Formats: sequence, structure tokens, C-alpha cells
Amino acid sequence: MNETEFSAIKEIVIKRMKDVFSEIPYGIDHTLKVLQNAECLMLKNDITQTERQVVVLSALLHDIGAVEAMHKYGSIDGKYQEIEGPAVATKLLSGLGLCDSMIERVCYIVGNHHSKDKIDGTDFQIVWDADQMEQI
Ligand SMILES: [Fe+2]
Repeated sequence: MNETEFSAIKEIVIKRMKDVFSEIPYGIDHTLKVLQNAECLMLKNDITQTERQVVVLSALLHDIGAVEAMHKYGSIDGKYQEIEGPAVATKLLSGLGLCDSMIERVCYIVGNHHSKDKIDGTDFQIVWDADQMEQI
């Protein structure tokens, strides 16, 4: 997907992410900071355009399961976010013309973003580091 098409998609995903987090405004601020960190880290890493797009979408959706986790389990603990996140992410990414393999990769990162031992690539590592930078 070219950059122009992708930036339009990115804007839609930002809007959808904000809608999901409407009841937890902290989630929006945190997510946008993680995206900003990820964008800085990408400048220092040699990655493909596809990986770059995966990083942007994963950064935007990494905590997206938090609202559903709160509703179902009364907790936004990482393990519940990992369980609920991929289904919410799939829904948010649907109908945008993204290929299945990209959605699958984003869901893998979203579904494991609290599990360091699941990091299996530079894209995931960047999202992990970008999130860690906000825990300090
Ligand atoms: Fe996070």
C-alpha cells in the first residue's frame, strides 16, 4: 500500500481508536505518545514500508482491548488486554482495504504486547520499546 493511501487509513484508525477510548481518555493520550515514540524509533531502524505500516497500526491499537477488558473482567490488566485486543483490532481495521497478512501481524502484536518473550521481529520490538518509554 502506498504512503498516500496509508496516511488516509491511519487517520481513520486514529478516529476509530479515539471512539473506543472515549470512556478512558488516558488511553488516547497514551496511545498517541506511543505512536510518537514508535515514529522516532523507526527513524533509527532500517525497516520496510510494510513493517513501518504494521508498527503504526500496532502502536495505535496495542491497548485497544482495555475497554473491553474493563467491561468483561473489571480490570485493564495486560493479560486481559491481550485476550480482548485482537478482536477489537480486527473490527477497527476492517473495510479499509488492508491485506489479511497485515491485519494478522498487527493482531499478533496487539495480542502479545505484554509478553516480552513473544517478540519475534523489529516491528514488534519497536512497538514494545515505544510502549516501555511511556512506563518510566
Ligand atoms: Fe501501552
